[in-house]
Amino acid sequence: MTPAVTGTESTLPRIILTSFVLLSFLRSGNAAGITSTFIRSEYPSVDIPLNNKVFAVPKGYNAPQQLHITQGDYDGKAVIISWVTANEPGDSKVQYGTSAKKYEFSAKGVVTNYTFYQYKSGYIHHCLVEGLEYDTKYYYKIGNGDSSREFWFTTPPKIDPNSHYTFGIIGDLGQTFNSLSTLEHYMKSSGQAVLFVGDLSYADRYQYNEVGLRWDTWARFIEQSTAYQPWMWSAGNHEIDYMPYMGEVTPFKNYLHRYATPHLASNSSNPLWYAIRRASAHIIVLSSYSPFVKYTPQWRWLAEELKRVDREKTPWLIVLMHVPLYNSNDVHYMEGESMRAVFERWFIQYKVDVVFAGHVHAYERSYRISNIRYNVTSGYQYPIPDKSAPVYITVGDGGNQEGLAGRFRNPQPDYSAFREASYGHSTLELINRTHALYHWNRNDDGKKTAMDAFILDNQYWSANHRRRKLKKHNVRKTMDEIAMY
Ligand SMILES: *[C@@H]1O[C@H](CO)[C@@H](O)[C@H](O)[C@H]1NC(C)=O
Ligand SMILES: *[C@@H]1O[C@H](CO)[C@@H](O)[C@H](O)[C@H]1NC(C)=O
Ligand SMILES: *[C@@H]1O[C@H](CO)[C@@H](O)[C@H](O)[C@H]1NC(C)=O
Ligand SMILES: *[C@@H]1O[C@H](CO)[C@@H](O)[C@H](O)[C@H]1NC(C)=O
Ligand SMILES: [Fe+2]
Repeated sequence: MTPAVTGTESTLPRIILTSFVLLSFLRSGNAAGITSTFIRSEYPSVDIPLNNKVFAVPKGYNAPQQLHITQGDYDGKAVIISWVTANEPGDSKVQYGTSAKKYEFSAKGVVTNYTFYQYKSGYIHHCLVEGLEYDTKYYYKIGNGDSSREFWFTTPPKIDPNSHYTFGIIGDLGQTFNSLSTLEHYMKSSGQAVLFVGDLSYADRYQYNEVGLRWDTWARFIEQSTAYQPWMWSAGNHEIDYMPYMGEVTPFKNYLHRYATPHLASNSSNPLWYAIRRASAHIIVLSSYSPFVKYTPQWRWLAEELKRVDREKTPWLIVLMHVPLYNSNDVHYMEGESMRAVFERWFIQYKVDVVFAGHVHAYERSYRISNIRYNVTSGYQYPIPDKSAPVYITVGDGGNQEGLAGRFRNPQPDYSAFREASYGHSTLELINRTHALYHWNRNDDGKKTAMDAFILDNQYWSANHRRRKLKKHNVRKTMDEIAMY
């Protein structure tokens, strides 16, 4: 968000007003979608050179590097702290407490290492720090003596339908100057945790020993954010690292060694799919590149997880995946169809609020639409307005070295509300159980510009409100009003 839209008391009314203007436009019948004509000046889409300071190794023998944290349990009272030591394993201890320099507690983690071709990883530590208080700032220290480093993070408010919380949403980040611009802009927002929609380092653009090295540089690059607030990970195609030409055929080897997820807390059998609850949100993370058809572990897990969602406690139901189910860009067109055929029905049934995806290097947002009435023998051919459907948002625009996906299909399909091929990130501010404020922030080649902004009505609580309204008012008219949104 720009400084003007941080959600402070003074600016919020203005934003809400602007958003209502946009909303009323969206609601006026079958409003045509917008294909932005913004032209960005070209930044070179090349990776930042290895000697740049964003990749600097911290000083000191065996100093901990590549610090990143993620939620460590189901409800936000634990974090997993991960880091790498280069010279020797060292100890996997985290010292922590609620005031700086005074570390009352400590936790012990585990250490692992692996090879990728002839590259040997550093010693990768993962430490679960649990039993934390909600809504509390913790300071933590890793390492010993001159090489030790100190950081802090803040735990989320307790699980409550009216907990206020702001998520950032970033995808397909990579390690170019555009990636850096996205990261810096995100860090100026009021985002408290990141929902990452896959494709982290783009290290698989390299070969042989450089693959592992670029996983290391990426983690040093993002440490400026990930050491201080949790990033919730989901895996994209650039995490697969299937490279038979150099004998590396175990999918997700680099990713799974380095990025932990709290999958056991949601009874998932695999770190690639899991769920967490945080503040007023229930967040479900799916893997586009793991089996998901009927009877597979991911399918069975999701069926169970959706039953655990309690909208009275966590009004906001958010799904993350890498491959978008709705995408009108030429790039990756229809790649999400297979998952859509399997899961879309459930998203409607459980009234998911919003589905975030990446993969396509552009921004796109849909209206509330569904295509579940289509089937191979009969039914509607096209997606239709569906007030129970989620909004689908693609934010694969983090800024990696593959550049932007500039060619959208014409004409813009009816379901597509807004699309633009620029770099950026999104923020979702959950205000209370009925309202959330959403922004897509275009980097604008150096400046941060909030472009697509609107108020997201909660699918569960607002729908209850609507049902009450329907009894009082003319049903037909109300249905028309809400049909598109
Ligand atoms: C892991 O580290 C140990 C201790 O330095 C070393 O002996 C071993 O070869 C390493 N394993 C791999 C897979 O690199
Ligand atoms: C996971 O399963 C265990 C054992 O069946 C159960 O006690 C626990 O509540 C489950 N966790 C969740 C998040 O449902
Ligand atoms: C296929 O579509 C038709 C027409 O909408 C519907 O009656 C039928 O139930 C659908 N079948 C399945 C298996 O979804
Ligand atoms: C939620 O916040 C919005 C915007 O500030 C406000 O209009 C609405 O009344 C609030 N709803 C509840 C249930 O507090
Ligand atoms: Fe991708």
